[in-house]
Amino acid sequence: MVAKKQEIIVSGMRPTGRLHLGHFFGVLKNWERLQKESRCYFFVADWHALTTEYANIKEIQGWLAEMVIDWLAAGINPEKAVLFVQSRVPEHAELHLLFSMITPLGWLERVPSYKELQQELTGKDLSTYGFLGYPLLQTADVAIYKATKVPVGQDQVAHIELSREVVRRFNFLYGELFPEPQSLLTQTPKLPGTDGRKMSKSYDNCVYLSDSEPEATKKLMNCITDPARIRRQDPGNPDVCTIFSYHKLSTHPDALKQIDADCRTAGIGCVDCKKILVKSMNESLALFRERRGDIAKKPKKVQEILDDGASSARGVARKTLEEANEAMGL
Ligand code: TRP
Ligand code: SF4
Repeated sequence: MVAKKQEIIVSGMRPTGRLHLGHFFGVLKNWERLQKESRCYFFVADWHALTTEYANIKEIQGWLAEMVIDWLAAGINPEKAVLFVQSRVPEHAELHLLFSMITPLGWLERVPSYKELQQELTGKDLSTYGFLGYPLLQTADVAIYKATKVPVGQDQVAHIELSREVVRRFNFLYGELFPEPQSLLTQTPKLPGTDGRKMSKSYDNCVYLSDSEPEATKKLMNCITDPARIRRQDPGNPDVCTIFSYHKLSTHPDALKQIDADCRTAGIGCVDCKKILVKSMNESLALFRERRGDIAKKPKKVQEILDDGASSARGVARKTLEEANEAMGL
């Protein structure tokens, strides 16, 4: 399907909500670039979603479908990258089982996200076997394709470190089979929600990729700005302003510099500043929205893409699994 390329890139996304602006300008733009130069596997990590959402399964399928539409609209191209749903490639789970034999419990208990998320997500009982094994399943996800590079956010770097330790142990015990995956840190802009707090669906302060142009415009125009800037003649501070964080995503660097200066001298008012943002943001998303409208009308086509993706991923995954079985004497 794709010519031989040196790097093998694997990344997954959990279907646990709608994607927002941060995903578009961070992860998806990055994936779109990577698919041009490397062999890429991008998948919906539905099993990973179950590790925390096992008691809330009703919404996962909807999120999954919307997520894939967002990917395609963002230019993730099934002719360049392999796109699929994790649970459709059961080889991931089989390799996870093999890896579980050689992974000391202490390695998993030490992963920082394990305790942190347990403490953070207090409404959920995460003292499960599946949740502890989360980073090991992730290891299988990447190793099954012999990934060399794994684009992830900062919070996932420790998981890829564990992946390296596990494949090193496998290679030591049974012979060289897996390359050690490196994380490819995605600079995801730290994006506040419209109220200035952390963007989170539980705060209802997200600007979603699937928001229509009028919806997004309304949210942006109602955004909080520098809270200390009360009157028009007060100078503002772009460094603490939500609107300015959004400007950094879509506004041209020259214009950005001007806004920064004008804000600090009260040369521009917040309403005008927001209007500039709305214009640049809507321009940045115009192509995305156009494609999204088209794709959303063709669920059969999306299903076909995922079917093809799963079957081509399985071809590769099956072969690696055979090698792993053989290496382990099975
Ligand atoms: N754990 C990742 C996250 O929460 C999602 C994920 C699952 C993943 N498997 C992966 C990312 C493999 C990269 C590679 O964001
Ligand atoms: Fe924020 Fe712009 Fe207002 Fe400055 S002028 S506080 S950057 S909205």
